[in-house]
Amino acid sequence: MKRSTIAITAVAAAALAVPLITVSHFSDDKTGNTETVSQETAQEDTLRDAAPEGLAIGSAVAGGGHHLDEDYPDPFTGDDQYRELLGQEFSSLSPENQMKWDHLRPSQDEYDFEDADGIVEFAQANGQDVRGHTLLWHSQNPDWLENGDFSEEELRDILRDHIETVVGRYAGQIQQWDVVNEIYEEDGSLRTEENIWIRELGEEIIADAFRWAHETDPTAELYLNDYGVEGINDKSDAYHELAQDLLAQDVPLHGFSAQTHLSIEYGFPGDLQENLARFEALGLGTALTEVDVRMALPEGSEPSEEQLEQQSDYYVRTLEACLNVGSCESYTLWGFPDRYSWVPVTFEGEGGATIMWNDYTPKPAYHALRDTLLEASEGS
Ligand code: XIL
Repeated sequence: MKRSTIAITAVAAAALAVPLITVSHFSDDKTGNTETVSQETAQEDTLRDAAPEGLAIGSAVAGGGHHLDEDYPDPFTGDDQYRELLGQEFSSLSPENQMKWDHLRPSQDEYDFEDADGIVEFAQANGQDVRGHTLLWHSQNPDWLENGDFSEEELRDILRDHIETVVGRYAGQIQQWDVVNEIYEEDGSLRTEENIWIRELGEEIIADAFRWAHETDPTAELYLNDYGVEGINDKSDAYHELAQDLLAQDVPLHGFSAQTHLSIEYGFPGDLQENLARFEALGLGTALTEVDVRMALPEGSEPSEEQLEQQSDYYVRTLEACLNVGSCESYTLWGFPDRYSWVPVTFEGEGGATIMWNDYTPKPAYHALRDTLLEASEGS
């Protein structure tokens, strides 16, 4: 067993009670406390170093998608401090947009790997895993694909070629793939209308996508990934059934992951741990792949102390659920700092969802996560 189980309430309380101290890798600190971390503890300075063995701490790599409409330069290539923290704090990277179809496939005959290659190279230089995201999805597909009027056979060939080319290019360098993303509605029915692959090729294409990915890179762990599946509900039930069906057919499915985009405006999914455990019981890996915790934040306003505390509590509870389920080997944040977050552009009147302020100083949630990781490391 890779980690010992930790008591949720004790750790949550401890995490909220920790004093805010300056950590040496942050440029500034809002607390005004100038104490720096001593040499002896410096190695446990960052999230990745605080994590117990066997648990990767990840971040999305900002770029593409909504970033293209913002007035800052490309974060990954143009923000040195961002790059530095990305290397120091995390042991796993997920391309936020750079491996999606609209990014990789300017046309049917072309692949553009420049940005994706940059992430994989960076990960290797920094001893990080990469979670590939994503191969079969209804969203962020190029127009040539969505409006191409292809025959069934052509579409199958297009998907197969894409999977073989992309998974093949990074074979041995991408440790986990979100092969299939967001295929169910909230009520547990398939997103048939929206998803071109399922609509045109039927449900069977899901198994094929896994098979093609596995044939191309037998070493990669292949995942089903979605949001709104943190707790036990109709949607996660649908995945639980699908997972059993796929496994019964010997389809190479290795894991189930919950994106974990939460809001303090809603209750915390208290059965997250139980939900992950039921997928683990099927023999699958589990992961939290896109964790962020947003709050009501009308433009120009600052989070209140109470909102920050609640946010910190939500973050810690997601991490504890993962720590308490042995199969949960990867905990990934959907980016940092707040200025690069997808939340304000996606959820009107909401924001503040990441663990770092815009000047890269840590929020209470950062400290609480790090302390929870340290505590789990001590107990393991
Ligand atoms: C989001 C990105 O963060 C944005 O930059 C982009 O504009 C839209 O997509 N679920 C997913 C992610 O699987 O790929 C989404 O990422 C967030 C929700």
